[in-house]
Amino acid sequence: MPHSTPEERIAALRREIRHHDHLYYTKDRPEISDAEYDRLFRELVELETAHPDLLTSDSPTQRVGAPPLDELSKVPHEKPMLSLDSITDHEDVLAFDQRMKRELETGHIVYTAEPKFDGLSVELVYDQGRFVRGATRGDGRVGEDVTINLRTIRSLPLQLSGNAAPPSHLVVRGEVYMRLDEFQILNRRMTERGEEAFANPRNAAAGSLRQLDSRITASRPLTLTCYDIMALAGQAPATHWDELEALAAWGLPVPEHRRRCQSIEEVLSFQQDTDAMRDSLPFEIDGVVVKLDRRDWQDQLGSKSRSPRWAIAYKFAPRKEITVIQDIAVSVGRTGTLTPLALLKPVEVGGVTISRATLHNADEVARKDVRIGDTVKVERAGDVIPAIAERVPVPGESRQEPFVMPDHCPVCGSAVAREGAYFYCTGQTVCVAQLKGAIEHFASKSALNIEGLGKKTVAQLVEAGMVRDLADLYSLTKEQLLTLEGFADRSATLLMESIERSKAVSLERLLMGLGIRQVGQHIARVLAKQFGTLARLMAATQEEFLQVREIGPEISASLTSFFSEARNRDVIDRLIDRGLMVAPPETEATPASQSLAGKTFVFTGGLAGYSRDQAKQMVEQQGGLVSSSVSKKTSYVVAGTDPGSKLDQAQKLGVQILTEAEFTALVTPA
Ligand code: IVH
Repeated sequence: MPHSTPEERIAALRREIRHHDHLYYTKDRPEISDAEYDRLFRELVELETAHPDLLTSDSPTQRVGAPPLDELSKVPHEKPMLSLDSITDHEDVLAFDQRMKRELETGHIVYTAEPKFDGLSVELVYDQGRFVRGATRGDGRVGEDVTINLRTIRSLPLQLSGNAAPPSHLVVRGEVYMRLDEFQILNRRMTERGEEAFANPRNAAAGSLRQLDSRITASRPLTLTCYDIMALAGQAPATHWDELEALAAWGLPVPEHRRRCQSIEEVLSFQQDTDAMRDSLPFEIDGVVVKLDRRDWQDQLGSKSRSPRWAIAYKFAPRKEITVIQDIAVSVGRTGTLTPLALLKPVEVGGVTISRATLHNADEVARKDVRIGDTVKVERAGDVIPAIAERVPVPGESRQEPFVMPDHCPVCGSAVAREGAYFYCTGQTVCVAQLKGAIEHFASKSALNIEGLGKKTVAQLVEAGMVRDLADLYSLTKEQLLTLEGFADRSATLLMESIERSKAVSLERLLMGLGIRQVGQHIARVLAKQFGTLARLMAATQEEFLQVREIGPEISASLTSFFSEARNRDVIDRLIDRGLMVAPPETEATPASQSLAGKTFVFTGGLAGYSRDQAKQMVEQQGGLVSSSVSKKTSYVVAGTDPGSKLDQAQKLGVQILTEAEFTALVTPA
């Protein structure tokens, strides 16, 4: 070594550093200490500084980024970068196998299965073993040139190596992503600096790679895995498995966890194993990719316009995503219940951007121990309101104080009272939030059914001070309506007519419409049948309510407290004064409809308007069945608050999921 020329020493150092980079970033198996590595690296930097003519772009020192660009230039891909068809069901995998066998006219197919990395796809071009160009996928035909940014990724070899001589020209496809721990560290750093945190690792990776300033990319911890040879000069490997081995032999990172499967059953078990390890992997994956192993068969089947026929993405069930709680707001519901709401840094969960998630109630916030500024996992299940699944502790984070419910209503300032886990505003109709909610509910389809009185109009009426309680609706004039924005002669007339029509109402609908806590449609029906008239109901004692089947202490307490309140009795009196005519209940319910015959329901989580027994009865009355476990045969899973594993099961099996409101709509004959 003492006699080597600077040129020889530079070459030797680069070889050595590349070797250690590969061991460290790709193999995860370093052989020298960081200090030794730094020594080698510094020596190379010094030599290159002293001999700028010997500096080349593939030197390991050139991963630090270059001055910013004005824009990323476009580059056409050598071959189109296709997408993958995706499926989510076991059966679809079997169907895929059947289709392959049919089209290839064979009974035995070998597949290679590997994880589906959740990052962004890139094309890497190597000429004479040297990394010359890299691009994002773009529209599949033309991508963005991110060569200098890609150069900063440590696991991307700038020079192919290995025992096998690399081809003179090679185009590789891979995925750039960010490890979860690195993502959290990055986000913490960004927030500390007052910059906006990334919603998830995928966004962080994309944002970091598609940078005009590659020095920023260099400071971001990106990782690469390669999974496809798009083109090469010379003999291509015969199978996908060999292709991955060849890539690895040239020093490119390939999926470590992969399996060559001798049957589709092996593919399925690989998928299960991968799903099971998903949460312990240091990076995000969103499924497995199944590929025909034989490349001649791949070529024989070819591609459709957007995706190859020989591969499929078998995606995992919708996933929880990681984001940050920016604030905790408190919303006031129709009955005054205060609900803590996490305002999130917007995040895409299963294709939907989520920026808020319910925290249900104060106990839930305490149990999950989530605070403003925390990193959390949010989950979205079908149409169910997104929820915070759990907090993700970040090592070394300094956290804010625990959240406390306000003692005054954020809408009207009235005192907040507590009932178990629930906090509610005592302001009742003084509280604009409750007043609007109460009127919307009163006018809704299953209550007074006042057509044309939707959310927007209710807000206008309340804000203009025209309606201060439910009874005020019946003293509205057409002239008043005409002063509201968006009302013209015809719309005002129509609304006046539907208000007039609503005056003839059944006891059951009125009870439902009054918005008494715990009194949903079903209980309203039970009460109407039992008491027959409003007068009798209003005179009933708590004990009398308790006598009624299905009415427990909570409902009876709620009823007595509602009817003993002067303000409520006054509203009812005024409703009657203004012409509301309450019809006695129909003696026997409409002949039992069999509209749910053949349908099976499963319930998970708590329902606000019914007990489980009531819900069951409603289903059964209409010919449906209620079961306790979810299977492929289940028609609907009704997800209430805090749904359990049955919801996950439903998603996995693709069973239709209903919210409580949807369930109500389904079991309530129009
Ligand atoms: S193969 C022609 N393999 O998934 C075949 N893609 O939904 C090209 N992806 O855009 C794709 N991991 O970005 C393949 N092991 C893997 C993958 C993978 C992630 C991405 C890729 C593609 C998307 C398709």
